[in-house]
Amino acid sequence: MEVGCGSGYVITSLMLMLGGEANGAQFIATDMNPHAITVTRETMEAHGVHAELINTDIASGLESRLAGSVDLLVVNPPYVPTPEDEVGREGIASAWAGGENGRSVIDKILPVADKLLSERGWLYMVTLTANNPSQICRQMTKKGYASRIVVQRSTEEESLHIIKFWRDVNIEVEANNGVTNSKAGILDSVRSQIQRLSFWGSSDINTSTD
Ligand SMILES: C[S@@+](CC[C@H](N)C(=O)[O-])C[C@H]1O[C@@H](n2cnc3c(N)ncnc32)[C@H](O)[C@@H]1O
Repeated sequence: MEVGCGSGYVITSLMLMLGGEANGAQFIATDMNPHAITVTRETMEAHGVHAELINTDIASGLESRLAGSVDLLVVNPPYVPTPEDEVGREGIASAWAGGENGRSVIDKILPVADKLLSERGWLYMVTLTANNPSQICRQMTKKGYASRIVVQRSTEEESLHIIKFWRDVNIEVEANNGVTNSKAGILDSVRSQIQRLSFWGSSDINTSTD
């Protein structure tokens, strides 16, 4: 599944890499911009693949149907810090306008991802340094997810990361989403925090406990 499919090249590439629906997988892409849905359809047709394309806000209307069943969720959200009133506007601005710290849409996507992902599901999300990715990871840790930066790229203008999230059975989560402790023990928990701290200073360090 992709949230915010834009031109459709990500979901199309994913389908081509994974063998499309012939392998028994189902593919779904959403975008709040109807033009993005049209262009994604064209991109898919040009590459001979087909997915369910839905014009909606994040995954609105799909949550109950897809709850706990998405094995792979990819998101390149609108992450650019902008005035809040630019977020979700009609037209192309919704492709980049992320509100305060670029986090407005990201912070709405995270709980939805938690609802949709299967027990072994993976979330890949693009973030910018200004989005405070380490804080996003901590937020997801409270929901029981481990995280790791799998790609980091910097240009003169921006520093981008792709973060992978997955449920970590060693992380116990309280009902109120506060992390209690790790089944693997306090030492592992400390080690994981140290890894996390060093991780953000480097381009390619694993934040996970595995
Ligand atoms: C940065 S672009 C990414 C496009 C494409 N996935 C890519 O990687 O090239 C963000 C996309 O998310 C869509 N989008 C923004 N807010 C959204 C929301 N609340 N729900 C669904 N899609 C949204 C935008 O219309 C845009 O197509």
